[in-house]
Amino acid sequence: MTAHPAQREASGGVTASVQRCAQCGQEIAEQESRQACGRCGGLFELQHPAPAIKGAGLRALLDARSASRRGTFASGVWRFRELVLPSAGDDVLTYPEGNTPLLSRPTVAQWAGATSLHLKHEGHNPTGSFKDRGMTVGVTHARRIGATAVSCASTGNTGASLAAYAALAGLPAIVLTPRGQVALGKLTQLLAYGARTLLVKGDFDACLALAREASERLGVHLLNSVNPFRIEGQKTIVFELLQQLSWEPPDWIVVPAGNLGNTAAFGKALREARDWGLIRRLPRLAAVQAAGAAPFAKSFAEGFAKRYTVQAHTVATAINIGNPASYDRAVIAIRETDGIVAAVPDADILEAKAVIDASGVGCEPASAASVAGTRKLIRDGVIAPGDSVVAVLTGHILKDPDAITRYHQGQEPTPAHANPPLEIEPRLEEIERALAPKRP
Ligand code: F0G
Repeated sequence: MTAHPAQREASGGVTASVQRCAQCGQEIAEQESRQACGRCGGLFELQHPAPAIKGAGLRALLDARSASRRGTFASGVWRFRELVLPSAGDDVLTYPEGNTPLLSRPTVAQWAGATSLHLKHEGHNPTGSFKDRGMTVGVTHARRIGATAVSCASTGNTGASLAAYAALAGLPAIVLTPRGQVALGKLTQLLAYGARTLLVKGDFDACLALAREASERLGVHLLNSVNPFRIEGQKTIVFELLQQLSWEPPDWIVVPAGNLGNTAAFGKALREARDWGLIRRLPRLAAVQAAGAAPFAKSFAEGFAKRYTVQAHTVATAINIGNPASYDRAVIAIRETDGIVAAVPDADILEAKAVIDASGVGCEPASAASVAGTRKLIRDGVIAPGDSVVAVLTGHILKDPDAITRYHQGQEPTPAHANPPLEIEPRLEEIERALAPKRP
């Protein structure tokens, strides 16, 4: 079903939200449930009517709402309702989520070689990752179209978020995860929040292919980021950080990249923020992959002439993805923002993580890719040391406790930032010994 002609304004905009294929422009109604475009196989994006007020008026409205302590506007997602899901009304399923801090930590900036570095910490969301921002919108929509069960494939965080929001909605959740490749904090969340947890003997890419097939054939509502309603929620990471910077955009926004949902969401958010007069200038987007799972970086290096898939291998299990689903939408995001895609080795990711952790902030390994990527891009002369940079930390430190103990306790040779514990006898002298300055 294409959008009704009456839904279109003379300017080419729409008067009611529609889903539009990012590849070929095919449109379907907002309420229609389809994973991909029937014409070209591309993924849909939502297109909303332009907000009634723009520019300074819209900024003032959003700023006034940010003081809300209760109700829908207390959510850092639904505060941006007109830009996210104008048709939602008040019947939204919210935890609430968002309102995550924008931090600045001199030791992290110094390590990266940046003079102005902010960390947007998405680990402060209810289930410990940015996924909650997309899930509140995805599950709100699933409920209003009458879904009876929801599912996703996940390296852990999407599943944890889905499980929590499904519990809030009273819907059964099914999560497909790659067996043995999910960090402990996430796996425990899946079980605790009550998701039917399937440990698939395959990697994330196999899980996603299976979840998509199950959704087609068994009618379970799929809530991976191929679902455009998830992307709408994730846009608010960008809206919120712009608001925290008093709508003065940074020069760069750096984001870890796996399945590329966030990269796609960030590009769409920036385009809309500019079109609706929230900002006048577009920051450049830098998507950072782990070197062992970097098909997008490989395509970027060749001017996006070709799409690659790889066998993914990285310690950053969240982004251990070889065939990213949102590839096409993410290419648009990088092109439109004059962006860049970089890859960083696992050793750099772990070192960045140790520095972020030791600053008292902490994050999971995949999140540290943004800071490791910032350092690389400054060293390569792509980001100027004086540029203002916002690096997104996507997940909480406690998501992956094993990665921490491995780094600080187990490794030979001991990494530069390791902080191994000391076993002691219950004697005061032993404490004196521990208080002595550490060997350099
Ligand atoms: N950082 C974390 C902590 C993640 O969990 C993910 C994705 C990403 C970065 C990458 O974001 O996929 O939008 O490019 N995790 C998914 C999951 C794959 O299943 O939880 P992306």
